[in-house]
Amino acid sequence: MNELPVVLFGVGGVGQALVRQIVENRERHARQYGLWIRFLALCDSRSAVVEPMEGLNDAQLLDILDIKTRGGSLLEHPLGGTQDDLSAILDIVGLPGTLVVDCTATEETVPALLFGLERGYKLVLANKKPLTVEQEVYDRLVRAGGTEEAPLDLARVRWETTVGAGLPVIATLNRLLASGDPIQRISGTFSGTLGYVMTGLQAGRPFSQIVQEAYEQGYTEPDPRDDLGGVDVARKALILARGMGWRLDLSDVEVAGLYPPELDELSVEEFLARLPALDASFQEQVTAAAQEGQVLRYAATIQDGRCRVGLTPVDRDSPLGRLTGTDNLVEFTSRWYSPNPLVIQGRGAGVDATAAGVLSDLVELAFTGR
Ligand SMILES: NC(=O)c1ccc[n+]([C@@H]2O[C@H](COP(=O)([O-])OP(=O)(O)OC[C@H]3O[C@@H](n4cnc5c(N)ncnc54)[C@H](OP(=O)(O)O)[C@@H]3O)[C@@H](O)[C@H]2O)c1
Repeated sequence: MNELPVVLFGVGGVGQALVRQIVENRERHARQYGLWIRFLALCDSRSAVVEPMEGLNDAQLLDILDIKTRGGSLLEHPLGGTQDDLSAILDIVGLPGTLVVDCTATEETVPALLFGLERGYKLVLANKKPLTVEQEVYDRLVRAGGTEEAPLDLARVRWETTVGAGLPVIATLNRLLASGDPIQRISGTFSGTLGYVMTGLQAGRPFSQIVQEAYEQGYTEPDPRDDLGGVDVARKALILARGMGWRLDLSDVEVAGLYPPELDELSVEEFLARLPALDASFQEQVTAAAQEGQVLRYAATIQDGRCRVGLTPVDRDSPLGRLTGTDNLVEFTSRWYSPNPLVIQGRGAGVDATAAGVLSDLVELAFTGR
């Protein structure tokens, strides 16, 4: 049996789903791949459960899931302790070939991820933040030897779920790059919430009403500005652009949010109350696009050295134009995929789909060299 030692950072929605899926897939992984995934440590924001020698058995893992699903701390587990330094956890673990999985949503993991690489560990990231801070950190995390010119080190690091969750967006990009097919444009929608808003606008509904409804039904972040501002989409666009070898920072991504910056200082209730003032302008834009045979999408476009995120008119008959609802959709236009683009579409969020994408990364990395 090939043992894959794993340390998990982040035991929230995605981290918990990952642990559950690994336990559920034990037999399949053993039968199909001769693979046994062994958790040596699980860490949340303040605590950790560490078993560096034997690894945690499934009963212990299920106990940990019980604690975390009811909102508890890992300190409640018999093997639990406080943690304020993820590198120290990696130092204790010390097994060659260890795979570190980042299912947090913070850039605080960066020092430990770099430390892990120095130790010869492999990485799987669901967390976008480490890949969207300084270019130098990106290079050190994903390029062989950490230098600007080096190729992506796919034998050691995977980050498929940072863009489009379980959809194979990064894998597709890497395959196009590997084949030498020049990519002329990537254009895509990467937010289910904003897809919902765009579908509502196209149906003639007022912007304020759609946002209010999405907020009340829990489709938006607790502060809807976190969706409507476009920064999360900008991070995904940056990861794609950097994946093509472009050298740029988050501040170079041109982001146009769906509300004016003066609404940033308001409480959520005040913000929602001010939205009807934007309705007429959105309706005008929808009508103007329709007169040109187009519809509006909140899209990221990476083309000609520019990375833009915002309201974008697209042809009604294009894959993006035909999209409705909350799916993500990415069009790759290249020499071989032109004029019809290569299209990836499907659920682009959700803890189970994301955890499944992380698990695929993990299984693939289990069999790469070093
Ligand atoms: N949910 C999705 O649909 C989806 C899709 C694609 C990608 N992702 C990405 O996947 C990641 C995880 O998402 P999620 O929905 O699982 O988030 P979440 O539920 O908020 O969980 C985050 C976890 O990270 C832990 N954490 C926070 N700061 C930490 C630190 N400094 N050190 C160690 N652990 C820390 C939290 O600890 P506590 O438990 O102590 O709070 C929590 O367990 C995010 O980066 C997200 O963008 C999510």
